[in-house]
Amino acid sequence: MSLLLQHIRKAYRQPEGDLLPVLGIEHFELARGEQAVLLGSSGGGKTTLLNTISGILVPDSGRVIVDGRDIVSMPEVVRDRYRASRIGIVFQTFNLLPAFTALENVLLGMTFSGRAVDHDFAKELLQRVGLGHRLHHRPSRLSVGEQQRVAVARSLANRPVLLLADEPTANIDPANQDLILKLIRETCRDHKVSLLMVTHSMDAAQQFDRIERLHEFNQPELCQTGAVR
Ligand SMILES: Nc1ncnc2c1ncn2[C@@H]1O[C@H](COP(=O)(O)OP(=O)(O)OP(=O)(O)O)[C@@H](O)[C@H]1O
Ligand SMILES: [Mg+2]
Repeated sequence: MSLLLQHIRKAYRQPEGDLLPVLGIEHFELARGEQAVLLGSSGGGKTTLLNTISGILVPDSGRVIVDGRDIVSMPEVVRDRYRASRIGIVFQTFNLLPAFTALENVLLGMTFSGRAVDHDFAKELLQRVGLGHRLHHRPSRLSVGEQQRVAVARSLANRPVLLLADEPTANIDPANQDLILKLIRETCRDHKVSLLMVTHSMDAAQQFDRIERLHEFNQPELCQTGAVR
């Protein structure tokens, strides 16, 4: 899977009515199987960028080309299906379903992708994030760091070709941080998954060969008024 961003503009309409320019990216590329970390400060647009790449957010203009296909111009239903089947996402806020156990949350990641449910693989993923003993706990009965680890396990459940990880170790102690980053990196390496991780932690970023600083290629001032949806 390759990723190419071209001429991306994204501004938010503020509650007061004016515009907040967040993304102005002329060009960004991620090769198949490449692993990159994007460093950026809080409020710098990292989550907005990942949501734009996954198609959760539609940019005001520009193209997000995944494997030669522009996902911005896809009909919403096609884009949603594409995301569910091809992209793994570790959400900054986890987005686990509260009524379901850790195991069920991971299984749902498979179901949404249209894959056959594979209990053994779901359990294996949870074991690999160190939660083999918490399979049947609901999110409210897990610590925050444990919830984050379930979110990491779920992001890999659909065997994605592109993994987008939003601060995936923000709530995790150093030992488990290393375990999670190792799992993410090795899974991506073994299955040629392209990885884009965003973080403000230099400590987490240092484990990766390619480190980009968002402010160096993001120029929100390129956003022009009038083009906001
Ligand atoms: N839905 C929205 N409507 C208006 N403004 C928004 C919206 N979502 C985000 N913003 C603003 O856009 C900016 C970028 O937000 P974003 O969540 O992308 O930052 P971030 O780099 O992920 O920050 P953090 O490291 O704190 O997670 C912030 O200043 C935020 O206030
Ligand atoms: Mg964020």
